Amino acid sequence: MERLQKIIANSGYCSRRKAEELINAGKVKVNGEIVTSLGSKASYSDTIIINGVTLKLEPKEYVLLYKPRGVVSSAHDDKGRKTVVDIIDSENRLYPVGRLDYDTSGVILLTNDGELTNLLIHPSHEVEKVYVAKIDAVVDPNLVKSLSNGVIIDGKKTGRAKVKIKKIDKKKKSSLIELTIYEGRNHQVKKMFEAIGYKVSKLKREKFAGLTLAGLTSGEYRHLNIKEVKTLYAVAKK
Ligand code: URA
Repeated sequence: MERLQKIIANSGYCSRRKAEELINAGKVKVNGEIVTSLGSKASYSDTIIINGVTLKLEPKEYVLLYKPRGVVSSAHDDKGRKTVVDIIDSENRLYPVGRLDYDTSGVILLTNDGELTNLLIHPSHEVEKVYVAKIDAVVDPNLVKSLSNGVIIDGKKTGRAKVKIKKIDKKKKSSLIELTIYEGRNHQVKKMFEAIGYKVSKLKREKFAGLTLAGLTSGEYRHLNIKEVKTLYAVAKK
């Protein structure tokens, strides 16, 4: 038995807070009875109906995908482009945890575990993300290192960041910079480089919450094991 709002959130239907609102508003039925008390418990074998829709209490699934460039990281795309969900063969409704841009490659997690998703994307949990950015220029190392002090993007200063210069190729006029951030603002990495006058020409996420691309090539995916899922919960709650 678990709290009703937790079961609803775990089903991926909505967040726990939204589930509490729905319960308070009398929109949730358990085995035919409307439940309005937030303390109520239910089990995964109960029939839970919200606004007339029966919840599908699916087994939890956790997939780590090496997202290729040219794929949208949402469950649906209005323009009909291929999505990360299209790549994965699953009977469950999986959702990406956070977003990568259409032209960004790298680690993305997909799951139907709404609770873990919320923990991982909550800004206060400061989950680590490691990116490698290619700049088609010979960068000024000091200027690039200044990113770790924060820069203003969209009117707000960015949080802590780590910068590592991986390569500066004077002949090819290109640079590779590793940037580690703990937030997930819209187009954050590209905007951070823009703020110091550089345009990112290629972007790859090499690490997310400790998960790497090891053993995968672009477009491939694998399921997480129990130990990895437990570690993710521990990382997200820290
Ligand atoms: N920052 C970006 O600019 N793009 C991404 O896809 C991820 C982080």
